[in-house]
Amino acid sequence: MSETITITDNRTGESVEVPIVNGAVDATEWKKLMPGTWFADPAFSTTASTESAITYLDGGAGQLEYRGYPIDQLAENSTHLEVSYLLLNGELPNKTQLDSWVEDVTTHTYLHENFRRHVHDAFHYNAHPMGLLTSSVAGLSTFYPESKDIEDPENRQRQITRLVAKMPTLAAAAYRFSRGLPFVFPRNDLDYTSNFLSMMFSIAEDDYVPDPALRKAMEILFILHADHEQNCSTTAARVVGSAHADPYVSVAAACAALYGPRHGGANEAVLRMLAEIGTYENVPAYMERVKGGEERLMGFGHRVYKNYDPRAAIIKEAAHDVFKVTGQNPLLDIALKLEEVALADPYFVERKLYPNVDFYSGLIYQSMGFPVEIFTVLFAIPRTVGWLAHWQEMLEQGSRIARPRQVYTGEATRDYVAMSDR
Ligand code: CMC
Repeated sequence: MSETITITDNRTGESVEVPIVNGAVDATEWKKLMPGTWFADPAFSTTASTESAITYLDGGAGQLEYRGYPIDQLAENSTHLEVSYLLLNGELPNKTQLDSWVEDVTTHTYLHENFRRHVHDAFHYNAHPMGLLTSSVAGLSTFYPESKDIEDPENRQRQITRLVAKMPTLAAAAYRFSRGLPFVFPRNDLDYTSNFLSMMFSIAEDDYVPDPALRKAMEILFILHADHEQNCSTTAARVVGSAHADPYVSVAAACAALYGPRHGGANEAVLRMLAEIGTYENVPAYMERVKGGEERLMGFGHRVYKNYDPRAAIIKEAAHDVFKVTGQNPLLDIALKLEEVALADPYFVERKLYPNVDFYSGLIYQSMGFPVEIFTVLFAIPRTVGWLAHWQEMLEQGSRIARPRQVYTGEATRDYVAMSDR
């Protein structure tokens, strides 16, 4: 059996045979046969925008792997910085490599004092932390003008280290600013996750240490959110990066995409939805509104997963460990009931709508004391390494500028009409 497809232009009878390679057909072969006729695929549902060796996702099987390692094994055994190294370099680090990477990240967590004191002051006191974070990341570009030299691998690595290191600091700073709380400096004696929790939550103590169960849950959440192949925000980073923009503005573009409620903003939207539903008894009525098209069930559905999102299953498990420390989140009952009703309802079954990563994560965050408006920021911190791994891979591939075609449906050519004749 030949691993090819044949496309025939029935108007001319001409054909082209295109090989199927790694489950994809090369669209440039089509272009040779029919120049000027485009594939119409508005939301890229059937378009592979790139080859990538970073993350493997089988949506039908509910399978997710980083560099070939199953997500559940990484969540159980690894740390976010080790996973970051894996995503960026392709292999798990040995001890020397990991120690050196952790040290590099730890010594780049501080923000330039001019940045820290002046950038946030430009915002209104109640600015949404995700708006602050997006602007701050873009602002870093002006502090590191050498980052524009994107061709030099060593220079790229320096910016990657800076971004991975500074995201928790920026995120915590955005939160503390929006709450009117004083900034807490990073601590080099703490690991990545504990340092973030310290910058978020310590008030007057200089020896803050988070509860080990909560730190572990945070580590798991960071690992689960670290990458997810060509999602909306990663695509945004790649598209902007393909113009050879520097990594800070490319990551700022990704933050902006993540902010949307259909993407990373969904974790915030889930909590608002659960609060709006309010009681267990209101679940059936809310589900009727969802099925009637009045609402979307936030935290449900996914472009790629047509099965249970493996990340949601791990988070659901981790939630119990958190609730042992914090007490059960009262909204959990509503979430469990929503899931139970949805998984048995033909509307959701036929459309293959299952809980996604955002459905349970917000319940953990809320129980740990994070306010709802910081939830998407908690997604952005670990996803930064995914964005950067893809940005780097794209540059190493020598990719061309991203520039899709369109199907024009506007007016045919017409003459300008003078104002008096309109
Ligand atoms: N609630 C109710 N109906 C839904 C939902 C939902 N959450 N998601 C999809 N549908 C329906 C949709 O109305 C459509 O029905 P019909 O065929 O009758 O028109 C069908 O399912 C297919 O939906 P779609 O909008 O074509 O699917 P998509 O692949 O374009 O969208 C999605 C994927 C994630 C944007 C969408 O499922 C959604 O809006 N979910 C809620 C937001 C959410 O939880 N986002 C987080 C995604 S996972 C983390 C991340 O990547 O950020």
